[in-house]
Amino acid sequence: MKSIKTVLFILIALSSQLAAKDFQRVMDFTQNWKFTLADSTLQASASSFNDQSWRSLNLPHDWSIESDFGKDFPASPGGGALPGGIGWYRKTFVVEKVNKGKRVYIDFDGVYRNSEVWINGTSVGKRPNGYISFRYDLTPYIKFGENNVIAVKADNSKQPNSRWYSGSGIFRNVWLTILNPVHVDFWGTYVTTPEITADSAVVAIQTTIKNDENKLRTVRVEQLLYDAQGILVGKSDGSFYVNSGTSHQYLQRIVVKKPLLWNIENPYLYKLVTRTHSLFRLTDEYVTQVGIRSFTFDVKKGFFLNGKHLKINGVCNHHDLGALGAAVNTRAIERQLQILKEMGCNGIRCSHNPPAPELLDLCDKMGFIVMDEAFDMWKKKKVTFDYSLDFDEWHERDLTDLVKRDRNHPSVFIWSIGNEVGEQWGEAKIDDSDLQKANVQLNNRKVIESEDTRLGKLGKNALLTKHLADIVKSVDPTRPVSAACNGTDDNNPLFLSGALDLIGFNYHEKEYSGITSRYPTKPFYSSESVSALQTRGFYLMPSDSMNIWPESWDKPFSNPLQKCSAYDNSHAPWGSTHEVTWKTVKKHDHVAGQFIWTGFDYLGEPTPYWWPSRSSYFGIIDLAGFPKDVYYMYQSEWTTKDVLYIFPHWNWNAGQTVDIWAYYNNADEVELYLNGQSLGKRNKTGDDLHVMWRVQYEPGTLKAVSRKEGKVVLTKEIKTAGEPVSIRLTADRPVIATDGKDLSFVTVELLDKDGNASPLANQLVKFTVEGEGAIVGTDNGDQNDHVSLKKPERHLFYGKCLVIVQSTSKAGNIVLKASVEGMPTKEISIKSK
Ligand code: GAL
Repeated sequence: MKSIKTVLFILIALSSQLAAKDFQRVMDFTQNWKFTLADSTLQASASSFNDQSWRSLNLPHDWSIESDFGKDFPASPGGGALPGGIGWYRKTFVVEKVNKGKRVYIDFDGVYRNSEVWINGTSVGKRPNGYISFRYDLTPYIKFGENNVIAVKADNSKQPNSRWYSGSGIFRNVWLTILNPVHVDFWGTYVTTPEITADSAVVAIQTTIKNDENKLRTVRVEQLLYDAQGILVGKSDGSFYVNSGTSHQYLQRIVVKKPLLWNIENPYLYKLVTRTHSLFRLTDEYVTQVGIRSFTFDVKKGFFLNGKHLKINGVCNHHDLGALGAAVNTRAIERQLQILKEMGCNGIRCSHNPPAPELLDLCDKMGFIVMDEAFDMWKKKKVTFDYSLDFDEWHERDLTDLVKRDRNHPSVFIWSIGNEVGEQWGEAKIDDSDLQKANVQLNNRKVIESEDTRLGKLGKNALLTKHLADIVKSVDPTRPVSAACNGTDDNNPLFLSGALDLIGFNYHEKEYSGITSRYPTKPFYSSESVSALQTRGFYLMPSDSMNIWPESWDKPFSNPLQKCSAYDNSHAPWGSTHEVTWKTVKKHDHVAGQFIWTGFDYLGEPTPYWWPSRSSYFGIIDLAGFPKDVYYMYQSEWTTKDVLYIFPHWNWNAGQTVDIWAYYNNADEVELYLNGQSLGKRNKTGDDLHVMWRVQYEPGTLKAVSRKEGKVVLTKEIKTAGEPVSIRLTADRPVIATDGKDLSFVTVELLDKDGNASPLANQLVKFTVEGEGAIVGTDNGDQNDHVSLKKPERHLFYGKCLVIVQSTSKAGNIVLKASVEGMPTKEISIKSK
């Protein structure tokens, strides 16, 4: 009897596995949309609306980036000097008749901003937050087997609403999901790794199952864990009832033998496949990437990943992708991360808003420590029409959704509930003795009064901090909650709330040494640091006498050059140079790490300048993705590979005094030669991070040699470049995927007759493309260039510019041609396959 049952069970189980899947998860829903920019009177939500004259495009799409830059756009140079407005998107689609009875969902990764979505004329929801992901259930309105129309309105007309460039429109991906009534809910798994030893790890899985049948169902949930080779390493199976129209959370555990841990050098990922079965049928299959890792923040010793000390050498980034604007592109994000990884960077702070899911997927795969941040403001506004207007109504939903969406990413280590929020000041009215008591409690974790009484005394901002931290903890108690605070005073209500697990200071590195005595129970890190100002390729001499900061914040800075030097000697008053900050972070073990403002230049916030500047100067890497010189300081400090880097270029006026800096490592000294003559050896002493020679310019060859114990480690040469006569095109990838999305980033330089790249070239380069590709952006890193970043031409800026080529959906050759007046046209072939 028993064996018949077993056979039956196996047969049923098998048939359930073999049956063709009748559900479709994450179908790319980005192709063939219609778009128009409109005024507020347009109503294009009705199915019958005629959108034939609208432009056809594929998502993700950012309409703001298509414009030339202009001084009078209401977003102002702070918002990128590009237009906002109201955009409408429509898509006509069919859901086959066979899907009748199924659930149809549309998932948006992010729409900037104030979006409203209609299906066949019925509004299914609004979402003010431009960065948050959301789902709508379309099922009740779908006409199976017939045309359906999705209409989306994105309203970014109220400006300014951001302190940096936001982009506008459906700038992230959109997915259609067709599911059986019994399925894994939206963001329906929560995977943690509560116990890890060298021999085994527990993978704990909480799955939320939805039953949209009109009957109670027995649901079987199978969890299958695969290693990176696709070998099954553990499984779990369980059954339970789910009432009609409800969802049910179910807990399972898988023990993995000899687990391979996720870390930044080898970000090992397992794949969890969750299968649901109802009435002996496979009804859903849901994939979660899993990283097994443990971490702690120690008050005295900083951050430990899997028991090993690791300084978080991170950067803050905004979400724009330079010439691509805010429109998400996986390859463009991957390129940014690769450039950062090469520098030795191991951390990313998603400042100051929910990131694109693709960024976190890549951080999981490539090994970065992510600080995932929810807000740039709470109730107190920073600019006229910002999220503070939506905060009361939406913060709970937005914060919950962010944590729910991102809590399975092994790369996410810190939740930040806000950046420099106005609530740090003003409202906590407490006297000295209360403050003292609060501090005693906070520091010693002694409860003198009840938590509520204490917080009550501290005022509503401390309560709000606690409320936000509680929201995060209710969705994910496994990671610390923090906030990026520039109010570093002890009576900052965010600190006094006691709700922050980690103390994060923005800037104020002079206070780092005293932190442990001020917060003896709270680990510390620098949530934001540096804010140095640099350009690429432009140098003011002599380097140590420069200060480009305006005398007073109220007077807009009027340096006619509107560009700062490439030396590391200028910074915002609240920050400090790269070197000063890194020296401080490096020497204090209790500082878990830092997130430098910023990895890449970004559109908007050209502080301290205003128009004609329209993008930032804070990046270690410029907007086009070309490293500035200080990139190599970090590389020499943060990587173990041999580094020797000298700058500036060697094209000056005869007799001019030029400061030559060298960043190096793994060597005892560097010797510099000019035209064969030694200019002396230099070596770093104390905590030096570079060496310098002050030299009278004469044309020729500058050569640096680093040596260790007398043996040459590296040699670097810079030559004076003559008149440029030809064009050099260098593609970062000569072969790209035929998916209509992949990109090749091509660098353009001009060479003299001996092949030396000209460091000062500023000629106009015009591009054309033939074959299966398109030009989707051009850039040069110049913060003052006002030509649309979509235009297929660009001036070189200090010797370089960039053109971005995208594949189509057809395989073939792509031929990119570049022409500069007076030079032979140059072409390069890129394969799309
Ligand atoms: C910080 C702020 C950043 C950026 C930066 C510029 O105070 O958090 O968003 O504005 O200053 O230095």
